[in-house]
Amino acid sequence: MVNLVKASFIALSVFLVACAAPNKAPQSLYDEIGGKPTVEAITDNFIDEISFNKDIYRYFEKTNITRFREKFIEHLCVNTGGPCTYTGDTMLKVHQGQKINETDFNLTVDLLVSAMKRAGLTYPQQNRVLKVLAPMRGEMLYK
Ligand code: HEM
Repeated sequence: MVNLVKASFIALSVFLVACAAPNKAPQSLYDEIGGKPTVEAITDNFIDEISFNKDIYRYFEKTNITRFREKFIEHLCVNTGGPCTYTGDTMLKVHQGQKINETDFNLTVDLLVSAMKRAGLTYPQQNRVLKVLAPMRGEMLYK
């Protein structure tokens, strides 16, 4: 009898472990692209791309780039599922008053894509990052 209870318990445990395994949390995009070093590399490349593009750099002339770098890293980390806290301002507040038009918005996205490519992201990974950022577009355009 004791053995039967033991055997049932073992069988139940094996069953539960087997059920739980496929439910393991999928790897975040953050981890998949390489975590902190990659998010930092994307951000540094992005700053580099911005500094060489006079149409976009003009928006950043008075920006504290050290702060921008820190907040952009946090933002990208959180939005790709990384273990960070975003401590910057809302996208609306930051971009308000800049009157960003669609041409400049699209150009900035191109710079970000270049930055991601240079950091080694595959084309599908680049698209997944853009997909997360896309809904924020409305908070930045023409404000
Ligand atoms: C791709 C979408 C974009 C994202 C995810 C994004 C994200 C951010 C973040 C996280 C910050 C820092 C916030 C803070 O300091 O609290 C920031 C600042 C800034 N962004 Fe964007 N941004 C985007 C598009 C743009 C575009 C299209 C422009 C202009 C063409 C722009 C111009 C700026 C400027 C000038 C600042 C610094 C503002 C300041 O000096 O206080 N951003 N952005």
